[in-house]
Amino acid sequence: MNILILGSGGREHSLAWAVMQNPKCDRLIVAPGNAGIAEIADCAALDIEDGGAVAGFAEEKAIDFVIIGPEAPLAAGVSDRLRAAGFLVFGPSGAAAQLEASKAFTKQICDAAGAPTAAYGHFTDAASAKAYVQAQGAPIVIKADGLAAGKGVIIAETVADALAAVDEMFSGAFGEAGAEVVIEEFMQGEEASFFVLCDGEDVLPIGTAQDHKRVGDGDTGPNTGGMGAYSPAPVMTDAIIAATLDRIVKPTMAEMVRQGTPYQGVLFVGLMIENGNPRLVEYNVRFGDPECQVLMMRLGAQVLDLLQACAESRLAKAQINWATDHALTVVMATKGYPGTYEKGSVIGGLNDMVEDSSHMVFHAGTGRAAGQFTATGGRVLAVTARAGSLQEARTNVYAMVNDIDWPEGFFRRDIGWRALSES
Ligand code: AMP
Ligand code: GLY
Repeated sequence: MNILILGSGGREHSLAWAVMQNPKCDRLIVAPGNAGIAEIADCAALDIEDGGAVAGFAEEKAIDFVIIGPEAPLAAGVSDRLRAAGFLVFGPSGAAAQLEASKAFTKQICDAAGAPTAAYGHFTDAASAKAYVQAQGAPIVIKADGLAAGKGVIIAETVADALAAVDEMFSGAFGEAGAEVVIEEFMQGEEASFFVLCDGEDVLPIGTAQDHKRVGDGDTGPNTGGMGAYSPAPVMTDAIIAATLDRIVKPTMAEMVRQGTPYQGVLFVGLMIENGNPRLVEYNVRFGDPECQVLMMRLGAQVLDLLQACAESRLAKAQINWATDHALTVVMATKGYPGTYEKGSVIGGLNDMVEDSSHMVFHAGTGRAAGQFTATGGRVLAVTARAGSLQEARTNVYAMVNDIDWPEGFFRRDIGWRALSES
């Protein structure tokens, strides 16, 4: 099977790493990829949001299966274009990708499906949004409706902050994404992420994770794309998984079918759990980054069979071989991230790293210059390990981090603290 993966982050490196371990994979191309991915697969420059260009490339390379990593090409309808050209694709249609691309769409689906989530209002002008804030009080959550690269959510502790956030959104701080605003009740509890393959009819859970969104130790400082993650998430007990499937995931999937936009792909279910009750925070229509890295390390080569079963609507008969293992990943980022940072610093120590099925450095933002790896982004590496216990996985990851020589980088030293302090 010739496989094309779209994307260039740590998520796609881990997908590529798992997929190519499967003997069914004859040839793997990742577009556009990065310097780490280039070590294990062919990389190709391609505008992955241009469905026509992707379909033409897939035709030329005799691709049998396309796996779409990030949300932008999904929201742009690249999967529709590929399916229309006859390709087997993993990833939802542009219409179904609205579950991530529009918060108001998701709220309406949840209403129709009876799925528990935060109470909300949806606004297209500042005056009525402000009146809602005044009536509700604080804390309260202000969200840009559209895709805002993970930045369109403001948790306001006071009414004054909330009113300022409303002005900020409607004055265009988040561009088009903020032309409509969703204002939500602030939910208390513990957050967790749950990943479910959906083929339009059946659903198959493929793992739970928790990530660390804040940049600093002790969950302090500004929000990031994620500074580390671990799987499984202890808060996701069997009972909570069952409740999430029955009350949230399955009713949402049924409602998507009813509305004529069946969902096929991985559904990233962001949850808030309080007193044993899961409520939906958000859906994403892709794997999380860095959550994907821990899931891929735990699932390994079977991932290709699972993604293919999902794309071919065969999930009813699909099975997962679970191990009682734990995986943890620590993100190394360029100093300054999530603010401004320099690009091009040299990363040493990667060539001597011993990598195997339980130890991998996934690359998120690297390039090559004069034979050396260089940092090309904010989040740069996801150092990942798997072991029999979370503590052991964490010890192994930090030992690997220690072997990486990158003075311009930084990382959190406490990934996994919550789960380890509870165990
Ligand atoms: P989102 O982009 O919707 O995932 O929001 C980013 C983060 O904001 C989430 O991971 C939560 O930590 C937080 N958040 C979003 N909505 C709420 C809410 N209604 N109540 C509490 N926290 C929230
Ligand atoms: N790590 C959070 C995300 O991928 O959205």
